[in-house]
Amino acid sequence: MINVTAILETRANVRAARQAGKKIGFVPTMGALHDGHMALVREAKRRCDFVAASIFVNPTQFGPNEDFARYPRTFDADQWKLEAEGVDLLFAPSVEEMYPAGATTFINVDGIGDRLDGRSRPGHFRGVATVVAKLFHIMDPDIAFFGQKDAAQLAVIKRMVRDLMLPVEIAVVPIVREKDGLAMSSRNTYLSPEERRQATVLSRALRKVEKSYLNGEQDSAHLISVARKVFSEEPSVKVDYVEVIEADTLEAVPSAKNGTLVAVAAFIGKTRLIDNLLLNA
Ligand code: PAJ
Repeated sequence: MINVTAILETRANVRAARQAGKKIGFVPTMGALHDGHMALVREAKRRCDFVAASIFVNPTQFGPNEDFARYPRTFDADQWKLEAEGVDLLFAPSVEEMYPAGATTFINVDGIGDRLDGRSRPGHFRGVATVVAKLFHIMDPDIAFFGQKDAAQLAVIKRMVRDLMLPVEIAVVPIVREKDGLAMSSRNTYLSPEERRQATVLSRALRKVEKSYLNGEQDSAHLISVARKVFSEEPSVKVDYVEVIEADTLEAVPSAKNGTLVAVAAFIGKTRLIDNLLLNA
């Protein structure tokens, strides 16, 4: 695996692979890698001839009172995991490399970028869209791989790619879960043992909604109340949102159909977790 921190060197390596006729796959991450990330890497290896991953904890997508400083950083372990999966290139730039002094250009995906996590975390998707666009320009991948875990992020990125005519295919990988249903997340390491137990409430709520939908319930307000009832059984968990929405626009729908997105976010103690489910998909 080639280990690079400089943009120019990354470009040179990717260009050489492309000139050798290879299909380029790209997996952007913030590190603290778990099996969810590795599922993206494996899918990229399956579909591409040259796989690049990035590890960059992007400051612009964190709010002033969020966890940028204490976000888990496990670079050595991450490197071994990527190497073991046969990743060809790891790009791990500094903040200065990605944001040259005085950088003032940002990408706003209006509307979508202000829904779900964008509403709870103002400016979050501006930071995500900006850094992902920069990374795409550096890597110039044929296919970029993202997890269904971050459903709102996916909608933002797909819209940006379409609106800016970026020549990249966005591939989506299903959510990887722990045995008890908890969606894997780098932030799960923040949870105390008691919080870890409580955290299954997100996937339990989603499963209950799915069951209700499969039993014929389509009314969004009712489906939301089904989820909220499950959350209420875990009183120390604070719900951020429960939404029944259209997956591409993140707009609320009055009634659910196959493919409708059910998305939840909640605070377990200080840790904010998200999860979602595409109905009958
Ligand atoms: P990060 O949270 O590290 O996630 C990197 C990728 O892994 C995202 O596409 C995310 O959806 C996917 N992922 C995380 N947990 C997953 C799980 N349990 N199952 C499947 N996929 C999972 O998302 C980001 O980083 C950043 O916002 C980034 C896109 C890198 C821009 O900074």
